[in-house]
Amino acid sequence: MIRERVKDIQLSIRKISKKAEEQEDCIRLDIGQPSFDTPEHVKKVAREEMDRFQGYTADRGIDELRDAVAREESGKKGIEAEQENIMISAGGMEALYSVFATVLDPEDKAVFNDPCWGPYKLISEVNGNRWSQVDFFENGELTDEARKEIRDAELVLVNTPNNPTGKVLEKEEAKEIAEVAEDSDTLLVSDEVYHRLTYGEEHVSPARFTDESVIIGSMSKNHAMTGWRVGWVNSSPDYVDNFSKASRGMVACPPAISQFAAVEALKNDSHVEKMRGEYGERRDILVQKMNELGWEFVEPEGAIYAFPDIGRDSWDFALEMVEKGVSIVPGEPFGPGSDENVRICFGSVEQRDIEKAFDVLEDEV
Ligand SMILES: Cc1ncc(COP(=O)(O)O)c(C=O)c1O
Repeated sequence: MIRERVKDIQLSIRKISKKAEEQEDCIRLDIGQPSFDTPEHVKKVAREEMDRFQGYTADRGIDELRDAVAREESGKKGIEAEQENIMISAGGMEALYSVFATVLDPEDKAVFNDPCWGPYKLISEVNGNRWSQVDFFENGELTDEARKEIRDAELVLVNTPNNPTGKVLEKEEAKEIAEVAEDSDTLLVSDEVYHRLTYGEEHVSPARFTDESVIIGSMSKNHAMTGWRVGWVNSSPDYVDNFSKASRGMVACPPAISQFAAVEALKNDSHVEKMRGEYGERRDILVQKMNELGWEFVEPEGAIYAFPDIGRDSWDFALEMVEKGVSIVPGEPFGPGSDENVRICFGSVEQRDIEKAFDVLEDEV
């Protein structure tokens, strides 16, 4: 017997990636995969580590990495963290799942922004929770509908810098949503897996403005380490103790070699600035191209995506474009308000490929 809730999950955007894989020389603007490989000094540490005994690590990760992450959280976000606040996970994805499995009873509700990254809904469905989606902000203020949804939910998930829009929360927005969550007794989960990738706007964690929160972090995008599967949770020691039970039940511990590699990446991290600089240039090209086409969009200030309104059905457009050798993700799966948006990833290809892709797009619009 397969649970109906799981059976009903549609991984619809696979339709696009499958077609893209079949096409020779398809320009892949659909996947959130950095074009950069993991820095050589990080791989070197992993190779050296391979020669040592390979066993399980502590379920919440090695102390050295928990310390390094605590320093990253304190230093880069101004959120005082110690080793006891940190659980290392098998990617941000496993961190999210551990949190949902720990804090939500069946039928409890999580509220997400509209649009939001699809796997939040996937996790809720598999975990048996209810969820809703609502546009959180209008003109820099939390909407009445968002306030109501947050009050009615057990968990509110905020994502800054944002996938799919590239929006970075302003300080006032971060503060407002944190305060409303606190007043409503709704747990604030802040997904900050792109915290190092901003282009002008400073990353502000909403967790700065509340005493009870859970921050999700990751090595994947900031350090070009998606395949290593290392992420983290930063929360109170009590939460961390309990998240680690869910995590233990899923993965026992995060991959050992990857954890040592992550320590090196966090300690010697000048690669982040180099990649961020390049992403910023790609973003500028993309913004210019989207303006030339007259598309409307939220200015991408962070992460590696833009989410323009293309003024027509997103599935039709994405399917047509992939046939022509440019793959982008239709907006529809990101939320009910996004039928006419597409997600374009500027992190996955080089500048000349963004230009080439727009030569094709221009002919279609
Ligand atoms: C918003 C967001 N959160 C979490 C993740 C999970 O990343 P990972 O599991 O690779 O750390 C991603 C990956 O694309 C993401 O875009």
